[in-house]
Amino acid sequence: MSLLNFDLKNGFPSVIETGKNGIYYNPKAMPEYKGERSFAKMKDLYKNAGKYDEGKTMYYTAGNLWLANDKNKFLRNEMTYEYTIIPPAVVNGELNKTHGHIHGASEKTGKIRCEAFEVLHGQGCFELFKEVNDKEFECLMVLLKEGDTIIVPSDYYHLSINTSTDDYFIFADLIKDDVRTVYSHVKDKHGGPYRLMIDDNKEKYYELNENWNDKNIRLKIINCSDLNWSDPFKDKGLYQAFTSNEEYISQILGQ
Ligand SMILES: [Fe+2]
Repeated sequence: MSLLNFDLKNGFPSVIETGKNGIYYNPKAMPEYKGERSFAKMKDLYKNAGKYDEGKTMYYTAGNLWLANDKNKFLRNEMTYEYTIIPPAVVNGELNKTHGHIHGASEKTGKIRCEAFEVLHGQGCFELFKEVNDKEFECLMVLLKEGDTIIVPSDYYHLSINTSTDDYFIFADLIKDDVRTVYSHVKDKHGGPYRLMIDDNKEKYYELNENWNDKNIRLKIINCSDLNWSDPFKDKGLYQAFTSNEEYISQILGQ
């Protein structure tokens, strides 16, 4: 068993006891809500669920994390700062991932939200996909490493894959709290357009999800640092960027 420190940058480092998947949050910034998604709730999204343990937690989420001094900044801007923690796991040759979704229009404000992310530990891939027309989807496999930040535009479905078989992939997100999550296509098609697989020789490869055969999928694999998307979080990371300039960041994520 070993301890894995993450989010040191924020000033409220949290710890994972890796042998037990036990996650301990700093009392200075305890999350107000926490969630776990078991394999039983994920199994339809894998190519082959086989005999995988239905009770295994595939990933953890935690939200409304803040230091006491910063709480009002989040509340008055109606922003949420969250974590997603994906342990290393391989399900019958497929690497562990989150469910994935797109954001729908808020019932309260009518807005469809973009979302900012920052990798806190490990390495992974964000699968971002959007409809180009009735027959065609664009699918970006964005490879990320620790310290990378990205704003995912509001018109992309997004899910996250832990590309490592022996280390955690942990990232933070920052978003307006009126976000509405819609699972639609991901659920209907049992996952995103592509899966990340690993063979017996430990070679990784992307494989088309057969449920997307009715669409023409334009796949592009790209490093996060090679995306030319605007990124106001590059220097400070999400938490520091927001707490040091709340109005500016709130405006960017609130458009
Ligand atoms: Fe999202």
